[in-house]
Amino acid sequence: KQEGFTDTFGRQHTYLRVSVTEKCNFRCLYCMPEEGVQLTPSENILTKDEIIRLLKLFSEYGVEKVRFTGGEPLVRKDFLDIVQCTKQQTNIRLAITTNGMILNKYLDSLRQSGVSGLNISLDTLTPVKFEFITRRRGHKTVLDSIFKAVEHGFPSVKVNCVVIRGFNDDEILSFCYLTKDWNITVRFIEYMPFEGNRWNTDKFVSFEEMKEKIVNEFGTLKTEQNDIHDTTKHFRIPSFVGRIGFITSMSEHFCAGCNRLRITADGNLRVCLFGNKEVSLRDYMRQGASDDELAQVVAFAVRKKDFALGGYEDMKGVASNPNRPMIHIGG
Ligand code: GTP
Ligand code: 5AD
Ligand code: SF4
Repeated sequence: KQEGFTDTFGRQHTYLRVSVTEKCNFRCLYCMPEEGVQLTPSENILTKDEIIRLLKLFSEYGVEKVRFTGGEPLVRKDFLDIVQCTKQQTNIRLAITTNGMILNKYLDSLRQSGVSGLNISLDTLTPVKFEFITRRRGHKTVLDSIFKAVEHGFPSVKVNCVVIRGFNDDEILSFCYLTKDWNITVRFIEYMPFEGNRWNTDKFVSFEEMKEKIVNEFGTLKTEQNDIHDTTKHFRIPSFVGRIGFITSMSEHFCAGCNRLRITADGNLRVCLFGNKEVSLRDYMRQGASDDELAQVVAFAVRKKDFALGGYEDMKGVASNPNRPMIHIGG
C-alpha cells in the first residue's frame, strides 16, 4: 500500500466523495439558485472508466470509503454499473447520498452490490411543504423509500434534514419520532450559505436551539459515541430505537477531524467543501497522465488544503467569497 494523502496538519484522507452527475430530478431551494444551474457539457463529465480508474488509484493511497453524490446519483444511466465495478475492483466501502425519489427500484441491486450506507434527504413530513422546497412532487415516495431501505437491511440508513426557520423548524419533534421504532439516524443539518441559495441569518437555526427544543420534549438525551471523522454529533432519545444527530457546520465546525476529498462530476478534485481550490483530474487523465503523476497532483493539492473554512463567521460572508452551488459540489 502506498503512503496516503496526508495534509500539512497531519490529516489523512481516507474518505472520498464522488459526484457522478450534476443532474437532479428535484430543484431544492437551498441547493440550486432560482435560475437553475448551467450543466457541464456531457463530454466533460467523467466517464465510468475514468471514475473507476480514480477510485482504484485513491484506494491504493488509503481511501477506504466512497460516498457517491450528485446532483442525484441515481439519475445517471450507468450508475449501477459504476457501483458494481467499484465493488468488484476495489475494497472501498460504498455509500450513497440520494433524494430517494427513484431509490425504490434500485434498492435490491444496490444491496446486492454491497452498498452499506444510504443517506436520504427529506426536509419535511408535510406533502405541501415538500413540493415547496423541492419544487417537485414525491413526498410519499421518498418517505416510503426510507422505510424500504431499512427493510432491505442496509447497515446504515440516515435521513438528512436541513433545518430552515419558518419552513420546517416546527417539525423537528416529528422527525425525532421517526426514530422511535425505526433503526435510522435522523440528522438535523444547519443551513449553510452557498451562492444563490437564499440563505440568510434569519433562516438559520443553530444546533443549540434545535437541541433545546428536543430536550424540552424528551428530557435529557443519551450522548452517543462519535467517530473523530464524523460530521455528526449523535444522540439517542431514551427508549427510542434509532438515533438523532446534528451536523453543525456553522456553529461548531468539525474541520479538525476532516478526512475528506471530493471529486466533482466534471472531474475536479476539491480538497474542501468550501473555498474554491480545485484541480482538474479529468484534464490530466485525458492528457495521458500516468497513475503516479495523478497521485502527485492529488498529493500536491492535499498539501495546500487549509485547516478550516467552515464555521459561522467565515461562511456568513459567503456572498463575497463565492462558492460553486451545492448541486455542483455534491455536498
Ligand atoms: P457520512 O458521514 O458518510 O454519513 O456522510 P455525510 O453526513 O458527511 O454526508 P451527506 O452527503 O449525507 O451530507 C450531509 C450533510 O453534511 C450535508 O449538508 C453536507 O453538505 C454536509 N457535509 C458533508 N461533508 C462535509 C464537510 O466536509 N464539511 C462540512 N462542513 N459539511 C459537510
Ligand atoms: N445547507 C446544508 N445542507 C445542504 N444540503 C444541500 N444544500 C445544503 C445547504 N445549503 C444537503 C442536502 C443533502 C446533502 C448532500 O446536502 O440536503 O442531504
Ligand atoms: Fe437535488 Fe439534492 Fe440539490 Fe435537492 S439538495 S436539488 S435533491 S441535489
